[in-house]
Amino acid sequence: MSTEFLSYFIKTQQYTLPLDCDEIFQRQAKLAVEIGFGNGEFLVSLAKQKPEYNFIGFETSITSLVKIQRKIHAESLKNIRVALVDGRFALREFFKDNSVEEVYTNFPCPWPKKSHQDKRFTNQGFAETLSAILNFEGIFQLVTDVKWYAEHMKDILLKTECFDLIQFNENDKMIVGTRYEKKWLSEGRKTYILVAKKKGYLNIQRWTWEEGSMPHIHLNDVNEQKILQLSGNVFRYHKGVFVVKNVYVRENEYLLRIVSNEEGFQQRYFISIEKEKDGWLVKLDPDAPAYRTPVVKFSVKKISEVICL
Ligand SMILES: C[S@@+](CC[C@H](N)C(=O)[O-])C[C@H]1O[C@@H](n2cnc3c(N)ncnc32)[C@H](O)[C@@H]1O
Repeated sequence: MSTEFLSYFIKTQQYTLPLDCDEIFQRQAKLAVEIGFGNGEFLVSLAKQKPEYNFIGFETSITSLVKIQRKIHAESLKNIRVALVDGRFALREFFKDNSVEEVYTNFPCPWPKKSHQDKRFTNQGFAETLSAILNFEGIFQLVTDVKWYAEHMKDILLKTECFDLIQFNENDKMIVGTRYEKKWLSEGRKTYILVAKKKGYLNIQRWTWEEGSMPHIHLNDVNEQKILQLSGNVFRYHKGVFVVKNVYVRENEYLLRIVSNEEGFQQRYFISIEKEKDGWLVKLDPDAPAYRTPVVKFSVKKISEVICL
């Protein structure tokens, strides 16, 4: 089976952040982003309408990632790339200040339960990120079937004092042509569109841009019994938490499967503890790359501390 159609996928963990979009697309062009593109109807249609733009789409569903690439390939579009990543993290970490022209999100999951609210896009951090990465007069557009969600987004954007509200209204006609829009309109639901234009800038902090490389820690000796007992251990840090889910033993190597969480941003990766000629090396396993966030760096240092003899 040909996998040529999968060539629009960018493995963003392997890139230095912020992304060099000119390098990725091999040309300089205005940049637009969609978060949660689902089946990809909107992003593909926009990329066809605006060949002079570069487009990047973010999704957390692998199925969506495969489906959109079939569409991009069928249309022979050269101006779209897609990544499997939480769009909130990507928006903040992947783009330089004042570098994105348009950001879209259509029918994002509203996560109505209070216990899931950290998964929503409607938080102050998201609004501040938009104010940083959008160009002056850049546009953010939300289309949703959930009125309170649209109103909440409007409130947090206006609270930053960095946006003018261009459009905020109810609709009963197709605007973006996506699967969810068709579904809700066919059930007789109304939808809401919010368009905001950037007029001000806020300085935000990025987690992965700071100086300092990923730790590779050499230890003279380790307590192998302690390594085997790490499974299930939870380590907290002021910026987040990580858990050692499993410990796998290979010849001359231990592999720890880690799940980390930083303000709702989850990563899964491996730390390897490898026997060398003159000791042991503790490092992030390159086969399961993670973004170099503070908790990922902390996890390598912490594991080294705990197992060191
Ligand atoms: C309700 S669907 C809408 C899909 C599409 N935009 C549409 O209108 O048909 C929400 C989509 O957002 C994706 N998603 C949820 N959280 C996300 C996140 N944090 N970053 C990127 N995509 C996300 C889901 O995988 C899903 O495909």
